[in-house]
Amino acid sequence: MHPPSVFDPHSAYAWSIYHLTVVVTILMGVVVLIVTGLVTYVCIRFRERKHPGPRLSYGNRKVEILYTALPLMLLASIFGLMIRNMDASDPIQRTRDNIVVVGHQFWWEIRYPGTGIVTANEVHIPAGKPQMFGMEAADVIHDFWVPQLGRKMDMVPGYHRDVWLAANEPGIYLGRCSEYCGKEHAWMRIRVFAQTPANFAQWEADQEKIPPIPTTGDAADGARYFTTMTCANCHTIRGTSAQGEIGPDLTHLASRTTLAAGRLPNDPADLANWIKDPTKYKPGCFMPDLGLTDEQVRDLVAYLETLR
Ligand code: CUA
Repeated sequence: MHPPSVFDPHSAYAWSIYHLTVVVTILMGVVVLIVTGLVTYVCIRFRERKHPGPRLSYGNRKVEILYTALPLMLLASIFGLMIRNMDASDPIQRTRDNIVVVGHQFWWEIRYPGTGIVTANEVHIPAGKPQMFGMEAADVIHDFWVPQLGRKMDMVPGYHRDVWLAANEPGIYLGRCSEYCGKEHAWMRIRVFAQTPANFAQWEADQEKIPPIPTTGDAADGARYFTTMTCANCHTIRGTSAQGEIGPDLTHLASRTTLAAGRLPNDPADLANWIKDPTKYKPGCFMPDLGLTDEQVRDLVAYLETLR
């Protein structure tokens, strides 16, 4: 698992940003050293008590040309590097979106155009293949940022934007929302699962399946509660009458590793706690406390755990 860092690039896009960061930091470091070095030298060399003071001189063409030309050359080279890196970090040629991410308060909707796949908060991509990500926002401005894979991109309501992201090797790459979007901004975590092409194809095939509706036991009761109670107003489970579009698609909820955009691990105990009292864990979230009985929660968890 790779925690977010620009100093750990895993794609050509992220490399170009890393490279620019290092070069600019070194150049700026040299400038800081020269300036502080000169100031220190002058402070010591021309201290008042020891020395009557420097000889005053009015105008020195050579020095003036030097202190205008040097910073100008420095800025011009950084400008050139930036122009080059803008294209290297997000090449201008666009293709059809592989994935569309929609920022919501406070979770990520993830769609795979051309397939029936809709998921949330956890993005799966094939490693080694550049992916065209579409970026949209459902409510306010969010910003999708997984530093190891490429540049960050604002999601602005009413606009569709694209950004190239890739992972050179399989792995789990963490990211987060990078534009303050409300009370639970901090709990808009992202997980990108870069998989071998074979594993990715398998994941896609699994996600396209419609899970069967359980007919016996607690899970059957849970499935009935889900579609007859408030859950179905906000959530979709493909193959059932639950077609709400306010909250995350739960068709394959049990295949995900986290709940509530990274707030809790996805296991039966945490899922039960979350359903019982969502605002205990995420006070600003829009999932209400439905006042369910322990038995209803148990049945709902039994059902949701079947959604593999
Ligand atoms: Cu979404 Cu901050």
